[in-house]
Amino acid sequence: MKRIVGGKDSQGGEWPWQVSIKLNGDHHCGGSLITDRWVVSASHCFKENNTTSNFSVLLGARKLSDPGPHSVTVGVSRIVPNPTYEGDLRTGDIALVELKEPVTFSHRIIPICVPDARVRFLPNQKCWVTGWGEVEGRDRLQTSDILQKLEVPIISTNTCNALYHQGSSEPKGTQDIKRDMICAGFAAGRQDACQGDSGGPLACRMGDSWLLAGVVSWGEGCAQKNRPGVYARVTYYQPWIHSVIPELKFTSVNTRSSNSASTVSFGLISIIISTVLLLQSLE
Ligand code: ARG
Repeated sequence: MKRIVGGKDSQGGEWPWQVSIKLNGDHHCGGSLITDRWVVSASHCFKENNTTSNFSVLLGARKLSDPGPHSVTVGVSRIVPNPTYEGDLRTGDIALVELKEPVTFSHRIIPICVPDARVRFLPNQKCWVTGWGEVEGRDRLQTSDILQKLEVPIISTNTCNALYHQGSSEPKGTQDIKRDMICAGFAAGRQDACQGDSGGPLACRMGDSWLLAGVVSWGEGCAQKNRPGVYARVTYYQPWIHSVIPELKFTSVNTRSSNSASTVSFGLISIIISTVLLLQSLE
């Protein structure tokens, strides 16, 4: 069976940042919760229609037809597409969506960490793409009722450009994969994100955290040979995200070592202070 194309059913609460962005009540795009008020999605999801009142966001769901008691639906107060998005060129395919009211976190609703601009996602690193998108990779939008998950390795931009040149009539030097994009998937095809997954997360586990590496953006067809999925590269847009959501804390991978560094310096300072106090009491 073809799901997400080639994925599996997810479990409830497995991807608690995954949201469904609905247009007039129907699933339209995926998205990722990053704070209690903000969702990251793709600019192209709002290309034809950007009237906030037509959109709503479903959180905490696994099955679209029966989202269950842990899910909530919230209205949208603002849609902020990246200003470099120009429609057909896929650059700038990242948008921030503000919820009408903050959501309460639960075991089913948890934001994903947004990586600092310095974080690197390396080739072959295994990440996950999730969504309710098309399961067959053909024809009209036919969404999956149950949230699908698929493990996909990161592909370097050079390799990805080379793959997109295979069997293509494009001039040699063309770079399909721009600096603000990141590829993931399989040269062999068969497994990929597809229509309806757009805007959803490419999530990578690093240490104890899940980081949002990419936003489902485009591909030539779905799950085709030599045409892996292309995602908006979140780290490239970190300064822009910061400018829209100044209060958002970004995650650097060395959080833990910097934590232990501060533990060490705190320990050293404590020792110095107690020594001074001890010496003073001896005088
Ligand atoms: N642009 C598509 C959408 O609107 C998603 C593309 C993802 N395609 C892929 N082959 N990875 O839903």
